[in-house]
Amino acid sequence: MDLIASRLNKISPSQTIAISSKARALKAAGRDIISLSAGEPDFDTPGNVKQAAIRAIEDGQTKYTDVSGTPALRRAVAERFRLDSGLDYRPEEIIVSTGGKQVIYNAMVATLEAGDEVIIPSPCWVSYPDIVALADGTPVIVPCGPNAGFKLRAEQLEAAITPRTKWFLLNSPNNPTGAAYSAAELRPICDVLLRHPDIWILTDDIYDKLVYGDFAAATVVQVEPRLRDRTVTMNGCSKAYAMTGWRIGFAGAPVALIRAMDKLQSQSTSNASSISQAAALEALTGPQDFIQGMVAAYQARRDLVVGMLNRAAGLTCHKPEGAFYVYPSMQGCIGRTSAGGTRIVDDESFVVALLEEQGVATVHGAAFMFPGHFRVSYATDTQSLQEACSRIQRFCAALA
Ligand SMILES: Cc1ncc(COP(=O)(O)O)c(C=O)c1O
Repeated sequence: MDLIASRLNKISPSQTIAISSKARALKAAGRDIISLSAGEPDFDTPGNVKQAAIRAIEDGQTKYTDVSGTPALRRAVAERFRLDSGLDYRPEEIIVSTGGKQVIYNAMVATLEAGDEVIIPSPCWVSYPDIVALADGTPVIVPCGPNAGFKLRAEQLEAAITPRTKWFLLNSPNNPTGAAYSAAELRPICDVLLRHPDIWILTDDIYDKLVYGDFAAATVVQVEPRLRDRTVTMNGCSKAYAMTGWRIGFAGAPVALIRAMDKLQSQSTSNASSISQAAALEALTGPQDFIQGMVAAYQARRDLVVGMLNRAAGLTCHKPEGAFYVYPSMQGCIGRTSAGGTRIVDDESFVVALLEEQGVATVHGAAFMFPGHFRVSYATDTQSLQEACSRIQRFCAALA
């Protein structure tokens, strides 16, 4: 008898974590490695948030809380939704979970029956298809290429819908492309969804504070309030408040679904860490100016990286609206051979050779269900970014 359940054969370990581990191992062996593979801010959690956590420990806020989060935090989440996006959620329509990832996991496991389909535009975050598969669902991947700015068009959504479609999963700004939808771009997508009343929508807005220039992020319920009764609006503290390790994600959704997610969470992790919830309360209700400073730094880095990568032979890099990633095409490098003798046959051989020969860690596009590209995270300091992009330019220039 096999020890490991066949369920686990449906999923693979996170490929972004795999490349980070390889980069760490090379670094530990003494190599000079610059990692552009991180999915988290390089900024430290703001001091006021850390202090709130310390106070919570000292005040004895060390017990179980309500499974869905403390009433104070749920009120604060509802208030942030209102202030930031004009969304109107009551505290009982809010759940707080151990990271945004658990929110998505809860929603899928609580609702999917075997064979239910989940439409996922790609490139997509590595975890979506695996979470859907773990919940017995069928991911339906809809490729969205660079010509449309890596964004889904309404007719693509319409064409992907079948009688088995249960969910449509939208991530804006997107990991790995940084592409973000304006309200005008969401409008035709919402129109399709209005025509299909049995489809639920999960919008992963975890990067929505990280948008640049005069771009304004938008979310589905804001654009089309009539979709509110079947939408999960997901967000969290990980990216906007540089709090990845604290593990706080949350969502607004209709009460019946929140109750189901709460029930599931009550038999898995129970509440998110009480200390982290106290920290999140301060993050959401305290001064918000930290975000502005971080956004200004990211925007300057985005411009630097896009400029330098577009000057690398064989690469083409779009300029995304948000998040802290760019997703250049490396198709101009396919069929060539690196200075170290590796034949570049696809995005994976490209990123492996780049890591081994120039010490720059990135993530290959196949991990995000959209090959021919690779993901560069610019959540690192400017000097390292400059050096890493120079190395990428050297690597590409040496391809023969
Ligand atoms: C698109 C997207 N959604 C959700 C998450 C999960 O965030 P958390 O760390 O809060 O679980 C991530 C993290 O990388 C992400 O990129």
